Amino acid sequence: MSVASPAQPNRIGATPLHEHKTAIVTGAAQGIGAAVARQLVADGALVWAVDIDGDAGRALAAIAPDRIRFVNADVTDSSALSAVVAEAVRDSGRVDILVTSASMDAGHDAVEMSPQTWDAVMGLNVKSVWLAAREVLPTMTAAGHGAIVNIGSLHGRMTVEGAFPYGVSKAGVEAMGRSLALDYGPAGIRVNTVIPGWTRSERVEQHFERIGPDEVARIDATHALRRTASPAEVADAVSFIASDRASFVTGATWIVDGGLGARFA
Ligand SMILES: NC(=O)c1ccc[n+]([C@@H]2O[C@H](COP(=O)([O-])OP(=O)(O)OC[C@H]3O[C@@H](n4cnc5c(N)ncnc54)[C@H](O)[C@@H]3O)[C@@H](O)[C@H]2O)c1
Repeated sequence: MSVASPAQPNRIGATPLHEHKTAIVTGAAQGIGAAVARQLVADGALVWAVDIDGDAGRALAAIAPDRIRFVNADVTDSSALSAVVAEAVRDSGRVDILVTSASMDAGHDAVEMSPQTWDAVMGLNVKSVWLAAREVLPTMTAAGHGAIVNIGSLHGRMTVEGAFPYGVSKAGVEAMGRSLALDYGPAGIRVNTVIPGWTRSERVEQHFERIGPDEVARIDATHALRRTASPAEVADAVSFIASDRASFVTGATWIVDGGLGARFA
């Protein structure tokens, strides 16, 4: 089955990247997810922001009440995801973009960690990414287009001591992107992974406060650019990859890490 190329947007005029598009963003209440929601709105999309943090989610929606619909839901709950997609389709007849950012850190000893912890990490970091894709793929397939961007991590490729099984879960996210890209490319759907490096989300800012300025300076120095990212810098890359401007990009991993992963040691 061959798929027609999407109409090329006007690159000279001011047409927003996501005009008339509807997006769903998970983990959208704070950090990279919130920055992605804001960027997609700035680029013209209507965004359904999904998160378990009600206060932060409502604060995000208050920034652009007519463009951000906040849904207080747990992404590990397939029926909640199904309801979000159904509501988005009822509201605007489409879901063009899915970005999955909800995730948890996990650093455990492989012997001491319980099977329940393994299930919780994989349930959020890997299974919920599949569950969200499972809900949007039928409507994207019916429309003949769609873009999914999952947020991975450098830990899925190279890691540090004490990051088990976070890296395992993030390797799974990247592998899922390749599989879904191959299986749904014929339907006109693109699936990609964005790998951020150190990004100063609220969670990372709190970590930086705990470790202190000397350790933060050491982290900065490991990057080619000698600094960590703002969530907005990652969000910009995500919005581009989700857009028709990246119409031939699929099954790919985009590393947005300031050169952190370019260093041998
Ligand atoms: N910040 C970094 O340095 C960094 C680096 C590499 C990869 N990442 C990845 O980027 C993504 C975002 O990271 P961040 O630092 O912004 O994270 P964060 O912890 O600041 O935000 C995660 C969001 O997900 C939400 N969430 C958690 N569990 C949920 C659930 N069950 N259902 C719905 N929402 C849920 C949280 O409430 C929160 O709003 C994650 O996938 C993370 O693995 C982050």
